[in-house]
Amino acid sequence: MNWVRVLDEGALSAGERQVVEVREHKILLLEHEGRVYAMLNACPHMGVSLKRGKVTEDGDIVCPFHHSVFSLETGAVKTWAPWPPVVGKLLGAVKPENPLHIFPTKVEDGGIWIGVGIDDAV
Ligand code: FES
Repeated sequence: MNWVRVLDEGALSAGERQVVEVREHKILLLEHEGRVYAMLNACPHMGVSLKRGKVTEDGDIVCPFHHSVFSLETGAVKTWAPWPPVVGKLLGAVKPENPLHIFPTKVEDGGIWIGVGIDDAV
């Protein structure tokens, strides 16, 4: 795994989000309860930005478009495209369930770093 420095330490205050570009991919970084999480800024359902996605008390992020829910920790799908009612199920069937791509993060040497591996999308 290679570590890439993406932001200065302290660049994200509580609840703040920022999108950075790494190898031509947009990565969403967000602070939640003292931790920094990093994920591809593309919902696995239809690719929309998750920057405005709600973060729940359980540590999940909700896509603002069809309300799919993903674990910030693992990217696992908790709910797949449930919205809008009735139509959401049809929209969910457009694409099979896929987890959100999550990157490991660390704060070190005055910076925020994300880990990218040979099997990663970036
Ligand atoms: S684009 Fe995110 S749930 Fe459809």
